[in-house]
Amino acid sequence: MPLLLDSDAIARLRADLRAAPYTAARCDEVLEAVAAGALAREQRLPAERATRAHADPVAVLIRLFILGDPVDLRDADRALPSLGSAGAIALGLARIAGDALIATCDLQPYGDENTDWWVASDQGEIATRAPLRTDHVLGVGGASATLAAWTPRPRVSRALDLGTGCGVQALHLAGHADRVVATDLSTRALAYAAFNAALNEQEWELRTGSMLEPVAGERFGLIVSNPPFVITPRDAHVPTYEYRDAGGHGDDTVQALVAGLGEHLEPGGIAQILANWEVSDSGDWRNRIGAWAQGAGVDAWVVLREIQDPGQYAETWARDGGQQSGTADYARMYASWLDDFASRSVSGVAFGVVTLHRPTVERAPFVELTDARGPVTGPMGPVIERGIAARSWLAEHDDDAVLDATWTVAQDVTVEHHYRPGEAEPRVIVARQGGGLRVTDRLDTVGAALLSVCDGDLSARAALVAIAALLDLDADEVRAEQTPRLRGWIADGLIVAATG
Ligand SMILES: C[S@@+](CC[C@H](N)C(=O)[O-])C[C@H]1O[C@@H](n2cnc3c(N)ncnc32)[C@H](O)[C@@H]1O
Repeated sequence: MPLLLDSDAIARLRADLRAAPYTAARCDEVLEAVAAGALAREQRLPAERATRAHADPVAVLIRLFILGDPVDLRDADRALPSLGSAGAIALGLARIAGDALIATCDLQPYGDENTDWWVASDQGEIATRAPLRTDHVLGVGGASATLAAWTPRPRVSRALDLGTGCGVQALHLAGHADRVVATDLSTRALAYAAFNAALNEQEWELRTGSMLEPVAGERFGLIVSNPPFVITPRDAHVPTYEYRDAGGHGDDTVQALVAGLGEHLEPGGIAQILANWEVSDSGDWRNRIGAWAQGAGVDAWVVLREIQDPGQYAETWARDGGQQSGTADYARMYASWLDDFASRSVSGVAFGVVTLHRPTVERAPFVELTDARGPVTGPMGPVIERGIAARSWLAEHDDDAVLDATWTVAQDVTVEHHYRPGEAEPRVIVARQGGGLRVTDRLDTVGAALLSVCDGDLSARAALVAIAALLDLDADEVRAEQTPRLRGWIADGLIVAATG
């Protein structure tokens, strides 16, 4: 740091990285499974062994820019043939040490299904083998990838990445937004973001400032944020790392975002953020975030992914800055977290994905709190987008509209019948969603019959009348009981509107 925004030199770097090709897929090939897996767990040794005698330019670039090892100048010049070691030094990416080149920042390939990018950031512990500086600028981390995977990607005219860091989310946004605004409190982070935008031939409007201040009075079609949400004790034992902690108390950074983001959404606009919130001794995980969601002034859908107890949370974040467990500093930090949580009677910290949505018509906002702690696969953005559309439809249509429509069971839904050995009737019937949030619903006889006739033929109303007659039940009671169930299935995507 600082990196030089010299467009000619950046173009030469891009050409070299492309020619190598320095892509995530090619790095995995060069490293092979064990070293790639170890590196993902922040263990460098297998990657050192896999690359040290490897002449491939990608192996040299991994040693230089990921492992932070000194690389012989001749090898570096071969791996960066048009930029050269001199060009890398001039750009601020590396320095010279004797007859070796040593990187001064991390530079990694990153991509989505369609595109390969490169991301420059501060070197992490893998390269420096030391605790992080408090103004450390993160590269692509687990949380960055989680947010990218859970973000809906509609075409929008303006998108905002709040707390952009080195610009990971902005890279994705540029693929489906005409204009990308990216903000951060850290000018170091924004310098990396400017470099990454140039390196990847994108244009972002970069603004310095805290939280929503830089976009006062503005609205966007999509807002994403992997904010500094880590709950941090405010005492001398725990450093204030800029990349994970905005300096507030408890979970008030997330609370402020949930309260403030809605007014920055255009009608139909979506905000997608990652969040931690506290769960109190006496309470349910829904209490605190549910109250914030109720006050958001727009639709709010919270998907819970994990709850850690105070000890697990302290261990995660005390280690995160690069401290080894067992040191006195680590023990002091651990104790600080435990004391901080105890002072507010916190029994756990929830992690989840919060989606806010401004309706396109005048109506009461909906609030939905979903416990989805199990594994999910694939990009979840489309699941969020469909879930918001389904819940908006439900918020705008009464029970008669639900009953008069014709529904089909979604392609990924199966029904399991569980029998006691020798019995003819199932004891348990479960509808199970194969994709999405993998919702399950335990069904009674009427529910099972209703799901089986959601085949695009009969309206739900007609289906319920037929089921009531078949089972000799009161039709009005069956309709009253089953309509909320239908609404739940529609919201969760177990049934979808029949077409044609
Ligand atoms: C967890 S990092 C996210 C980086 C990147 N968006 C990603 O997804 O990987 C959080 C970012 O928020 C920034 N930040 C910290 N405090 C902030 C504040 N008060 N206002 C805006 N950004 C802030 C940090 O500098 C950091 O870049």
